[in-house]
Amino acid sequence: MNPIRLLTSSELCLCTCFLLVLIYRGWSQLFYDWTVSYSQLAPLGVDKQVIVINGMFPGPVLYASTNDVVNVNIHNNLTEPFLMTWNGVQMRKNSWQDGVQETNCPILPGQNWTYSFQLKDQIGSFFYFPSLLLHKAAGGYGAIHLNNLPIIPIPFPQPYKDYAVLIGDWFNADYRDLRASLENGVFLPHPDGILINGLGPNQARFEFEPSATYMLRISNVGLKTSLNFRIEDHPMLLVETEGSYLIQQYYDSLDIHVGQSYSVLVTAKNQANGKSYYMVASSRFTILEHSGIGVIHYPDAAGDPVGPLPLGPGLSNYNFSIEQARSMRWDLIASAARPNPQGSYHYGTIPITRTLILENNVMVIGSKRRFTINGISFMHSDTPLKLLDYFQLNEESKYAAAAALPSSATSVVDAFYRDFFHIVFQNPLLEVQSWHIDGYNFFVVGMGWGLWDESKKAGYNIVDAVSRSTVQVYPLSWTAILMELDNLGTWNLRSQNAENWYLGQELYIRVKGVWNWLDEQSDISARDEAPIPDNVIKCGRAADL
Ligand SMILES: *[C@@H]1O[C@H](CO)[C@@H](O)[C@H](O)[C@H]1NC(C)=O
Ligand SMILES: *[C@@H]1O[C@H](CO)[C@@H](O)[C@H](O)[C@H]1NC(C)=O
Ligand SMILES: *[C@@H]1O[C@H](CO)[C@@H](O)[C@H](O)[C@H]1NC(C)=O
Repeated sequence: MNPIRLLTSSELCLCTCFLLVLIYRGWSQLFYDWTVSYSQLAPLGVDKQVIVINGMFPGPVLYASTNDVVNVNIHNNLTEPFLMTWNGVQMRKNSWQDGVQETNCPILPGQNWTYSFQLKDQIGSFFYFPSLLLHKAAGGYGAIHLNNLPIIPIPFPQPYKDYAVLIGDWFNADYRDLRASLENGVFLPHPDGILINGLGPNQARFEFEPSATYMLRISNVGLKTSLNFRIEDHPMLLVETEGSYLIQQYYDSLDIHVGQSYSVLVTAKNQANGKSYYMVASSRFTILEHSGIGVIHYPDAAGDPVGPLPLGPGLSNYNFSIEQARSMRWDLIASAARPNPQGSYHYGTIPITRTLILENNVMVIGSKRRFTINGISFMHSDTPLKLLDYFQLNEESKYAAAAALPSSATSVVDAFYRDFFHIVFQNPLLEVQSWHIDGYNFFVVGMGWGLWDESKKAGYNIVDAVSRSTVQVYPLSWTAILMELDNLGTWNLRSQNAENWYLGQELYIRVKGVWNWLDEQSDISARDEAPIPDNVIKCGRAADL
């Protein structure tokens, strides 16, 4: 096939979609009211204080469509400060709503705060989770389903029904104890098991009608474990990941790394013959294999599935995983919302403004083990960066590169709107890494063993690489991404592995407007970034301003 022709037709299609959107203007205001509180649950038979939303674990599904304005009023009924973040959701020029420690002051116990953000031209399966204080180890997460505008066709027949499938490792220990050991430099233990939709073995049930096609919206919401997902005797047609429609291919099983989301179509059997079937999410690259088990249940099925679990690729087959990652291709001609609609799908031809090589590691800093990026472990400022910038309280020198490494610092990468970044994640360790950038999708153009060097660029996929927001890096390997900085704001780049993130493996990319870059005031006037919210919570040095 000729890539030039494909690009041209996708361009035409894109213009048509924009016109339709302009005519249709079909966005709405959505309102959600959530109370976050503790509940005593025992998904693996051991009692634990779990974070629930409106009494539910996992929390309610957040449904929205392309361009909708989403308002979520969160009441914090915990005993600790709280923030929710929206993994993979690209809020328009509005990092004020991102819900991470350097964009928002926390919602204090007994208080409430309303997030309000407009979605970009985005579809797909995503999830939300608590971002502070290792709350994620106590749950507090839920699915986000972003649908297309009704007027824009989807590249497959409308599924009969959607199911959220949240899979993740689970630790029976209290999240405060896990947090305390991390702070002492003791890493998380092995997980106690894998949950499916917050439930232990055989508890998560999915009802299938014969011959109907279901969309499973799967996210790995766990703390640190890569998972292999499969359904006994039911192949999965992979159609979407993190906002990109993919060239449709069948998979018997899918590797899903921490923080990643996939949508698959599964067609029920014509006749189930009285059987029900296993759904399995099993750990990858761990010493012991743990499996979360769900049940696909047909109307005539007698009981739970019996017999051995369907086999996966095994614990340590990296080739399977990397080959599978390389097999995924962006569907260039699907007429649908695009992750980066303003033309960056020509990404292979856009000149790179900056290359960043980010190497993860674990180092001793101040006698504690910390996770680092290029020798720097992130140190939170006493006041969120967004507020320091807004009120001009920043002491720039504090953010200068540290002199001696390793060290702790509040790392910020400054960039201008429309810069085009090339980021190489280099992993010198034996554990799989998972990286995420808020506010953006990026193109995953290459992955390989060993050290990255300039010669690797020749092998990049510059035509139909997947555009997504969370990407894995295999042991002793590199992963390269390209991204257009077309969303103003201060955005978190982090390890999705909760212990790495908690112990400093993150930085922020501060994307500023360029229109009046000679004007000293341009940073705070930021006329194309959303204004500071009326209801902004102030804390730290901004508390009384
Ligand atoms: C919040 O917590 C308090 C104390 O545990 C409880 O009495 C109250 O009912 C809770 N409110 C909500 C809305 O959950
Ligand atoms: C808190 O919740 C109330 C309604 O329960 C709402 O009127 C108010 O705007 C919320 N406050 C914030 C800061 O969002
Ligand atoms: C994985 O792939 C590499 C390179 O293609 C090969 O040398 C190695 O034998 C493979 N390992 C397995 C277990 O298949």
